[in-house]
Amino acid sequence: MTKTVLITGGSKGIGKACSKVFLENGFSLIAPTRKELDLSNTISIQTYLDNLNLDIDVLVNNAGINPLAYVGEIDFQSANELMNTNFWATVMLSNFFAPRMRDRGYGRIVNVSSIWSGVTKSGRSMYSSSKAAINAFTRTAAVEFASSNVLINAVAPGYVNTELTKLNNSPEQIDQIKASLPINRLAEPFEIAELIYFLASDKNTFVTGQTIFADGGYSII
Ligand SMILES: NC(=O)c1ccc[n+]([C@@H]2O[C@H](COP(=O)([O-])OP(=O)(O)OC[C@H]3O[C@@H](n4cnc5c(N)ncnc54)[C@H](OP(=O)(O)O)[C@@H]3O)[C@@H](O)[C@H]2O)c1
Repeated sequence: MTKTVLITGGSKGIGKACSKVFLENGFSLIAPTRKELDLSNTISIQTYLDNLNLDIDVLVNNAGINPLAYVGEIDFQSANELMNTNFWATVMLSNFFAPRMRDRGYGRIVNVSSIWSGVTKSGRSMYSSSKAAINAFTRTAAVEFASSNVLINAVAPGYVNTELTKLNNSPEQIDQIKASLPINRLAEPFEIAELIYFLASDKNTFVTGQTIFADGGYSII
């Protein structure tokens, strides 16, 4: 039977690559645009869920933002938008879908975290906090749903060749980053998407509660 996946942030970058991989593997795809589902707005999320009369097999909480903010200059409104988009949306969608997956005896959730959940860099205090919270949430949710064949994991990418990376790093900085990585290059979005797909697929029968770092060796040196 055709499985259904809901992917947030499917318009570009990692989310777009995920959409392609899931479609190539025969999934039916739901990838709401920001207009249909604004993840920074809890009312928009609740309204979307209230009107979605559909079961899904896989949820990929991918959308995220990373506006830099230095401690001492953190603006509540901007931090709140970041936490809503990156973390609270992940919680709300998981809170809605995980029990439904349990009732059906099958489900996979993959949350997109970041290397900055484990290590960090100046200006990323709010972003790092949101991604560390995702890892913690992933672990606890995995414990609660594992016995019902609902497996929940996080993927923590390193530097990926997307608009988000170009937004926060100049071309010169990107060249320096490439040179500093053991693998000497950025990830392409499809490389992260393939890992997300594995964790979300039938092939994954035993991995749950993990945060898998896919960073070209960044975090091991
Ligand atoms: N790129 C990296 O190096 C990297 C590294 C580690 C982790 N990540 C994580 O990977 C995920 C995807 O990143 P990316 O690099 O692919 O980013 P991206 O190219 O900037 O794409 C972000 C996606 O999220 C959507 N989005 C943002 N805010 C939204 C909102 N309020 N409501 C609905 N959709 C919203 C965007 O939609 P619009 O088209 O409407 O803007 C877009 O589809 C994020 O969680 C990010 O933190 C990325």
